[in-house]
Amino acid sequence: MQSKFRLILNLFSKFKMSLDNAEKDALYSKISEGKAQAYFHKTKNQVFYNPIQEFNRDLSISVLNTYSRVNDSKKLKILEALAASGIRSMRYALEVDNVEEILANDFDQKAVDLIEENKKLNNVEHLVKSSCDDATILMNSMSRNWKTKFDCIDLDPYGTPASFLDSAVRSIRSGGILLVTATDAGVLCGNGADTCFTKYGSVSLRTPCCHELALRILLQSISSHAARYSKYIVPVLSLSIDFYFRLFVLVYDGQMKAKESINDIGFFHICPECHTFYEQKYGKTVPTKGNVKFIFDSTSEYNLTKCQNCEATLKLVGPVWTGKLHDKIFIQNILSYLATKNDKDFKTIERMVGMLNLACEELDNPLYYILDDICSVMHCQTPNHNVMRSAIMNCNYQVSYSHCAKNSIKTDAPSHVIWDILKRWVELKPVGEKWLKPENRVFKILKNQAKINVDFTVRNDCTPISKQNNLLRYQEPPPFWGPGSKPKRKSENEHSDNKNEKTKKTTDLSK
Ligand SMILES: C[S@@+](CC[C@H](N)C(=O)[O-])C[C@H]1O[C@@H](n2cnc3c(N)ncnc32)[C@H](O)[C@@H]1O
Ligand SMILES: [Zn+2]
Repeated sequence: MQSKFRLILNLFSKFKMSLDNAEKDALYSKISEGKAQAYFHKTKNQVFYNPIQEFNRDLSISVLNTYSRVNDSKKLKILEALAASGIRSMRYALEVDNVEEILANDFDQKAVDLIEENKKLNNVEHLVKSSCDDATILMNSMSRNWKTKFDCIDLDPYGTPASFLDSAVRSIRSGGILLVTATDAGVLCGNGADTCFTKYGSVSLRTPCCHELALRILLQSISSHAARYSKYIVPVLSLSIDFYFRLFVLVYDGQMKAKESINDIGFFHICPECHTFYEQKYGKTVPTKGNVKFIFDSTSEYNLTKCQNCEATLKLVGPVWTGKLHDKIFIQNILSYLATKNDKDFKTIERMVGMLNLACEELDNPLYYILDDICSVMHCQTPNHNVMRSAIMNCNYQVSYSHCAKNSIKTDAPSHVIWDILKRWVELKPVGEKWLKPENRVFKILKNQAKINVDFTVRNDCTPISKQNNLLRYQEPPPFWGPGSKPKRKSENEHSDNKNEKTKKTTDLSK
């Protein structure tokens, strides 16, 4: 009798399971990325997923594994504050070595329901918890003591991360790592300097080196939020990728260092005509007994209003982070980690290795010129990149590419050296007569003769190793390139309008 009953129960649960599966098949399609699988709604505009961001997720997994390794295999408590389907959290659970727990949060109940399904699909219920909360409220509520704070906080919003930065720096443990995406490239790159000011407290400019400026605006903003809580940042990797920016930043407690962060903040005076840039610091701190004292800058560039190269009126951009964008040792550690992986582990490994090598070779000097651009200002033939690089090196300065732009020239040479090199170049490849009229900018540039002699002999050591090794340094934009759009449902704000009714709060990680 009992065994008959068990048989019926078994049959019933099998029948229910196949019904559940049929229901899921009707509702969802399944994708796989890395070691994870994920359900997505078959009907459009439900929960966000952008396959192009696989590179972002691959990179983040590599950074988190490296971060744990360099911290004695530290166990990581991770928050994905804006999780959507949770694909990223699933991958962190399956592909990051030392995970203690992951909280995947989204304020959209539909997203959280999907996260729950995806947890089951990937068998990671023991590692991933979900919560349906506003990210800022959640992070602030977790910021009160060390136990509830996180080692890693991932912010991957639609557009700007600005409104999440404050609560993120509050709720991260000292020495923790913040992973931030920004897809508001238009704003950060100068299409709306006023909007940039409202979001980041900094003015952007559309200029050839705007992508690095964007990274520096973001870092300045994170640093200033951190400083409010006597914290300071150390950027380990700051990348401009396709249509977005991705930053990996360590955040530490420390009142004195927070004060010293002013040393890494400054402005740029940028010429709208010839694109020369002049760095301007507020000043610098000097150590005193157990504290620091601030001294204002009084250099000649402090009151610069006209371009020293072409006499145009300069534009003031910033404040921006003027310190290092990357920690090169950390990047080497990521590369060592990737040396043990292949394209089955990470589909985008080739691009990661190329871009990380480029970032590692990059000089720490802020900003860059674009060779075609400065030559078009001069109305001259563009020298081969190796010729220009050699000329700079032959003047005893360093030169590198920037990962932000293919034809970039990053250098520790002052701007007048770069223009002197071009002035010597046009002695060999003259500017057309028609441009040499007083009303033309190039006339004003050539008015002041070059003061240095330039040797254009191409050097054997002018080609960076990443190029010699034929790495994938700059990838052409992949198909369907773009940030992806926010799902637009009929009642777009149902989750926020009826929040009390629709959300269930499951932020307690002990549950
Ligand atoms: C770009 S998607 C996240 C993508 C995801 N990280 C990935 O890798 O696929 C942004 C998500 O943030 C959620 N979101 C936006 N504002 C939020 C807020 N204030 N609190 C919590 N979630 C929010 C949206 O519902 C959306 O699902
Ligand atoms: Zn100028």
